[in-house]
Amino acid sequence: MERTLVLVKPDGVQRGLIGEILSRLERKGLKVVGLRLLQVPREMAERHYAVHAGKHFYAGLVEFITSGPVAALALEGPDAIATVRRVVGQTMPNEAAPGTIRGDLGISGLRNLIHASDAAETAVFELDLWFPTGDLLDYPRAVDAWIVAEEPEG
Ligand code: CMP
Repeated sequence: MERTLVLVKPDGVQRGLIGEILSRLERKGLKVVGLRLLQVPREMAERHYAVHAGKHFYAGLVEFITSGPVAALALEGPDAIATVRRVVGQTMPNEAAPGTIRGDLGISGLRNLIHASDAAETAVFELDLWFPTGDLLDYPRAVDAWIVAEEPEG
C-alpha cells in the first residue's frame, strides 16, 4: 500500500468543493488516513513549494496557498500516488480531461483546486510536512476486500 498527500487549495475550500473532491477520491477506493483544515503559514508554504523556488510562478503559488484555509488529506491505496494524479487530472484545468476533478471543476491554471504528491519521495516529504505530529491512522476497513483484489499467484 502507498500513501500520498492531497491538498484542497483555497479555491476548492472557498467554492465548497472539499466534500466533492474527497468524495471522488473515496469512491475511487482510497482510504482516508489523515485529515486537517489549516491556514498555512508562509514558511510552511515556502517549504512545500521549495522545488519551484526561482520559477516565475513561485511567488504566486506561495501567495495563493496562504490566501485562505487549505484541507490536507492523507490517502492510502494501491499505487495511490499515480492513482490520485489520474483522478485529479493534468495541472492546467483547461487541458485536463473531462471526468477528472480538474477537468470537470476547474477552468484556469492558477486555480487548479488540488495539489497531489508526484512521486514516492515527495509524498514522504509532504506527508511529514503537513502531518508533522505523525497522527496518520492505520486501521482496517471491512469493505477493503471488495475494493482491493488479491493478485492471483503464479
Ligand atoms: P501544484 O500541484 O500545487 O504544484 C505546483 C503548482 O505550480 C501547480 O500545482 C500549478 O498550480 C502551478 N504551476 C505549474 N506550472 C505553472 C505555470 N507554468 N504557471 C503557473 N503555475 C504553474
